[in-house]
Amino acid sequence: MKLSALLPLLPAVVAIPFPPPTGPYGVGITQHVFNHTTPNDPVAFAVKPSNGTGHLLTTIYYPTLQLPTPLNTTAPYLDPTTASVWGDPLLFSKGALETLTTWTQWQAPTLKSSTGLPTVIFSPGGGENAVMYSYLTTALASNGYTVLALDHPGEAPYVQFPYGGDGYYGIDITATWNRTLMTDVYKMRISDAQAIIHKLFPPLVESYKAPFNTTHFVMIGHSIGGAAAAGAMELEPSIIGGVNLDGGFFPEVSLPDVKRPFLLMAGSEHTPAIDPTWSPFSKNQSGYWQWVNITGTAHQDYSDLADWVDLLDMRNKTAIPGSFGTIWAPRMDFLVSTFVEALLDLVLGVRQHVLDGPSSKYPEVVFVNESRKGY
Ligand SMILES: *[C@@H]1O[C@H](CO)[C@@H](O)[C@H](O)[C@H]1NC(C)=O
Ligand SMILES: *[C@@H]1O[C@H](CO)[C@@H](O)[C@H](O)[C@H]1NC(C)=O
Ligand SMILES: *[C@@H]1O[C@H](CO)[C@@H](O)[C@H](O)[C@H]1NC(C)=O
Ligand SMILES: *[C@@H]1O[C@H](CO)[C@@H](O)[C@H](O)[C@H]1NC(C)=O
Ligand SMILES: *[C@@H]1O[C@H](CO)[C@@H](O)[C@H](O)[C@H]1NC(C)=O
Ligand SMILES: *[C@@H]1O[C@H](CO)[C@@H](O)[C@H](O)[C@H]1NC(C)=O
Ligand SMILES: *[C@@H]1O[C@H](CO)[C@@H](O)[C@H](O)[C@H]1NC(C)=O
Ligand SMILES: *[C@@H]1O[C@H](CO)[C@@H](O)[C@H](O)[C@H]1NC(C)=O
Ligand SMILES: *[C@@H]1O[C@H](CO)[C@@H](O)[C@H](O)[C@H]1NC(C)=O
Repeated sequence: MKLSALLPLLPAVVAIPFPPPTGPYGVGITQHVFNHTTPNDPVAFAVKPSNGTGHLLTTIYYPTLQLPTPLNTTAPYLDPTTASVWGDPLLFSKGALETLTTWTQWQAPTLKSSTGLPTVIFSPGGGENAVMYSYLTTALASNGYTVLALDHPGEAPYVQFPYGGDGYYGIDITATWNRTLMTDVYKMRISDAQAIIHKLFPPLVESYKAPFNTTHFVMIGHSIGGAAAAGAMELEPSIIGGVNLDGGFFPEVSLPDVKRPFLLMAGSEHTPAIDPTWSPFSKNQSGYWQWVNITGTAHQDYSDLADWVDLLDMRNKTAIPGSFGTIWAPRMDFLVSTFVEALLDLVLGVRQHVLDGPSSKYPEVVFVNESRKGY
């Protein structure tokens, strides 16, 4: 058969897929809106319409044996409103972000039994949507982890509820956050993670009869979410490991000794001169920790925003100057997933220490310091 005979079967829309996740499993996705009121909710003032407050949106990524058929069984990446709330001010052309496609499959069947791995709680950067870390959340799910990515309505500029539900606007994307707001959001992230662990997630898993782990967690976050991973570990023994992606800590609240394995990954501009919190944090650790720094990276290279830029050919063309380094986003995705998965292997006792370096396998990674070195 000639190729041209097949062409009419191809969909008319342009689709630009994320690189497929590399683990052995397919990736299922679902969402759930919990009724939950956070004490002293610091972003309630921003929720429009105001009845969006008192809820917590969880996006759940999980392993499945079902394999994706691109554009048919795969779930959309961003809903149209979220795509324009972010795409317009960042100078992406109309509809561009909606052409990005994922490898996740909406409510694909779960595995029959648990992979035995801890559940990952993912906390995004301040004002960013939890779905904007799919490069990492889907990589982890394809390796057998269930990932709960949390959104608190009012914080991100827009949060779409599932099942054709309403969407809720929040703090404007152009707003400048003062230190009080940042600190209060940090506390809120910790409080919400605790609510998930103790009150919200176990009954949901029970009602789904899903093979998800409700006793052991790891917490991973970007920016404020990364700091909150440490803050939550201080309070929750069920969180057995954590990762902070480029987030400054909140010493006015605490610089906790998390006592269990912890990975710190920084952008190359994230020096002690710019952020004086990482050195005292690392010196306060009694458990295993590692601090690395990736050459050619900046703050948003740790989110999907960098993938938007490279997949849509917008390098040097968006309105978020300074947020991206020179690294190619798919390469960054590989480096972050590789180091995070190594930390998780360490947590599980599969390996005795995280990745060594400097190494020709990842020459961009600068090994700043770690617990077993003490130099
Ligand atoms: C949340 O509360 C509303 C109204 O009180 C109720 O209709 C809804 O079923 C609740 N949702 C969940 C998931 O419990
Ligand atoms: C908020 O109110 C609107 C309009 O009455 C309704 O459609 C929506 O379901 C409500 N949202 C929640 C989360 O209850
Ligand atoms: C798309 O999915 C539907 C139902 O899941 C299936 O019947 C159909 O054959 C699929 N089409 C392609 C091109 O895979
Ligand atoms: C939960 O995770 C812990 C630590 O990895 C593991 O020992 C336990 O078996 C897991 N439980 C389930 C139900 O997977
Ligand atoms: C910080 O920002 C919040 C939210 O915009 C505002 O309500 C508060 O007054 C600000 N606080 C200070 C000290 O500027
Ligand atoms: C070190 O961690 C402990 C336990 O989390 C905390 O109480 C203490 O304040 C921290 N020390 C510093 C210097 O921040
Ligand atoms: C991170 O690496 C860069 C080189 O890529 C270096 O200039 C910077 O000082 C490093 N930061 C820290 C905290 O070591
Ligand atoms: C982006 O800008 C940098 C620095 O000005 C330049 O080195 C690089 O070639 C540019 N990349 C593209 C794809 O235009
Ligand atoms: C590296 O970590 C050790 C152990 O906490 C500490 O004593 C040392 O001062 C750190 N070195 C630097 C350069 O931060």
